[in-house]
Amino acid sequence: MIDIHAHIIPEVDDGPGSLEVSLEMLRAAAHDGIKAVVATPHILGNLEFAREREIIRKFLDLRQRVKEEGIPVHLYLGSEIYIEPNLDLDHRIATLANNGRYFLVEFPMQGIPVFAAERFFEMMVEGKTPIIAHPERNAAILLDPKKAYEFVRRGALLQINAGSLIGRFGDRVREVAEKLLAARLVHFVATDAHDTNSRPLLLSKAYQLVAHRMGQEFARLVFQENPMRALRGERIEPPEPCVEELERWAPGGLKKWIVSWWRKGR
Ligand SMILES: [Fe+2]
Repeated sequence: MIDIHAHIIPEVDDGPGSLEVSLEMLRAAAHDGIKAVVATPHILGNLEFAREREIIRKFLDLRQRVKEEGIPVHLYLGSEIYIEPNLDLDHRIATLANNGRYFLVEFPMQGIPVFAAERFFEMMVEGKTPIIAHPERNAAILLDPKKAYEFVRRGALLQINAGSLIGRFGDRVREVAEKLLAARLVHFVATDAHDTNSRPLLLSKAYQLVAHRMGQEFARLVFQENPMRALRGERIEPPEPCVEELERWAPGGLKKWIVSWWRKGR
């Protein structure tokens, strides 16, 4: 498996606080069947070239240590860019493995900025493809997953977190992640790892779950084939979505609330 979203560089953002923790996360990843990881530190606002150089230096140090320790995981560099009106991709770390094509972008948790669709369109005209990080954790998409479909219809790809599928972020997030999966609107499953315990660098549980629900072929696509293509900057053909899966959506809490309200009324 290939993980395209991980906070693995020590002392760079809210990821591991030391090199030892990074190495421990990568040992666990290797044991879990992960062969390659893209380090995706957060970029908030304008990235200064001095900070980018610092990130690259720390990344290269980590990669060297991984080699010396004999941990069988290939490391690549990218970033997770917080969406801004003046989103800037003019950096080596802006696209995954510096392929010039795919970039990982995150929305604020509270909703979707009004300028997002237009900004993505401008990027796509320039040959860049946004991969939206963990849409299942976004409040607007939790209430209406069709909003995620709108972005896919316009050419974006979606990455959901392995942790969302196994319930680490609660039932509502798990339900919407499953819904997007059933609607074939998931193009990548990644770890978004931050540490060894609460958000680890593990994928195998989520792989089994996806293979069980959607079949081996689909699991291979979202854990292996698409991530490989994204790293190489090759074209990714998203499967035809089953949008009707999204029509019947009512988030868990809301559903329970409707049922109790209906019972009270009777
Ligand atoms: Fe992240």
